[in-house]
Amino acid sequence: MSAQPSNSSWWREGVLYQIYPRSFADSSGDGIGDLRGILDRLDYLAWLGVAGIWLNTITLSPDRDWGYDVSDYRSVHPELGTIEDLDRLVAEAGRRDIRVLLDLVPNHTSDQHPWFVDSRSSRTSAHRDWYVWVDPKPDGSPPNNWLSIFGGPAWTLDERTGQYYLHNFLPEQPDLNWWNEEVRTEFDDILRFWFDRGIDGFRIDVAHGIVKDRELRDNPPATEDDPPWVWAIGQRQVYNLNRPEVHDVFRRWRRIANGYEPRRILIGETWAPDLAVLPAYYGREDDELHLAFNFAFVFCHLDESEMAPIVEETDKNLANLGWPAWTASNHDVGRLASRWCSGDERKARCALMLLLGLHGTPFLYYGDEIGLADVPVPREDLRDPLGIRQWPANPGRDACRTPMPWTAEEGAGFTRPGVRPWLPFGPARPNVEDQRDDPGSVLSLCRGLIELRRTTVDLRLGNYRRLPSPAGSWAWQRGDRHVVAVNLSDSAVSLETPVDGKVLVGTDPDRTGERLDGEVRLGPWEGVVLSLSLATEPASGR
Ligand code: NOJ
Repeated sequence: MSAQPSNSSWWREGVLYQIYPRSFADSSGDGIGDLRGILDRLDYLAWLGVAGIWLNTITLSPDRDWGYDVSDYRSVHPELGTIEDLDRLVAEAGRRDIRVLLDLVPNHTSDQHPWFVDSRSSRTSAHRDWYVWVDPKPDGSPPNNWLSIFGGPAWTLDERTGQYYLHNFLPEQPDLNWWNEEVRTEFDDILRFWFDRGIDGFRIDVAHGIVKDRELRDNPPATEDDPPWVWAIGQRQVYNLNRPEVHDVFRRWRRIANGYEPRRILIGETWAPDLAVLPAYYGREDDELHLAFNFAFVFCHLDESEMAPIVEETDKNLANLGWPAWTASNHDVGRLASRWCSGDERKARCALMLLLGLHGTPFLYYGDEIGLADVPVPREDLRDPLGIRQWPANPGRDACRTPMPWTAEEGAGFTRPGVRPWLPFGPARPNVEDQRDDPGSVLSLCRGLIELRRTTVDLRLGNYRRLPSPAGSWAWQRGDRHVVAVNLSDSAVSLETPVDGKVLVGTDPDRTGERLDGEVRLGPWEGVVLSLSLATEPASGR
């Protein structure tokens, strides 16, 4: 068990790295990644320079939604290892100064969780009220118009007891009733269980959705002004998501997290429909989540005219309250190399530079560091229930969950040669081994940027201040002496820098060390991080 020595801001200053455990490294040779596989790769992660890893859910599950249907919150899925493997992973990660975060799934359980099995057994069962059970309308229809995020109504009629139960995702993922105090107490205990084992914090699944409107009012329809994920559902989920009552739960969890030394941290999967809603997840005075994912940023294009306003508004909204979190890839939305960059390596280099150069905590998704793109998965190999249910309109999320390519050999260094992986490797792809010692690789660039951040206080903590730059490019100063400039366009641009400077890292490695005298020229899809020779502002920007 780890009691990792740390200063309290590793999660602010460091880079966090998301691992989909089934797809990272398979130590047992069954084609499924596992905890020992992650353990074997800790030296790589330490070499890469990440401060913490977030593991997608590892608890026991019938895997209708690959771990996001939990049937025991205090266990490790046997396909991934044992709880002792996890203890070892935490301890070994701690020895390398890497923190370990788990996924917590409080919105719903598996329908095979003993709580739900009991709950559905009768209207008077001990756990009946742990879930959301409601009588049909007089015509037999569901109690309201709520729709499941995975399609269809959010209600399923249980014939035996004659009531509907709520599920914001699959029918096999019944929603817990967070108005029930026993549910709250149970989760307090689950948090403590993992914190006591040395887990450094949680990414909270569907953080914005766990508490529902007590009166179960109908949702209004979506409008043109809503973000894409709201149109996709067709209604504004104002009564089953983003309820103000959720904040009581986060304040309670923050008190628990604060009771540990080193402090444990809470990161929310917070799909705020509007940027103005996001700060609320940090609390009124930073007394709720430490970090809240910013999906407005995730869903913008690699275009400064969309990105910069989001970054600036987020910064303004969180000033003196909380710390931004930036990501562009995850196991749901896809990989940045595809979604932002359409497989163009120049764009992926710029995307990594800007992510690692912003004011806030960057999250990388395994494979981002080598420019790994989504791998289209043929229909017969699909694993994701979304793709299976919605093919071909929606191929699902498997494309961004394929195994990590470590080497070019058979098995990709992920599993043993000849073993069929749980998801296909896909065609030839970048791999860690080929890139590791190549100074011109995406991996070397990414590692160089992480290293620069680690050694440069301006890049870890310095304020963001936008600098003038031609359309299509984006430049900002961090702290007193550093500038990030990226050209997100097909034409070369020329930018003035506040004073003379030097290129510390370029997306083109040949530019490293170049001296600049008040001007920087960037080719199409090129970026640089500069140090300025003189302070332009008093040292106030921290
Ligand atoms: C969000 C998770 O990231 C996703 O993978 C999952 O399907 C849903 N929540 C339901 O738990």
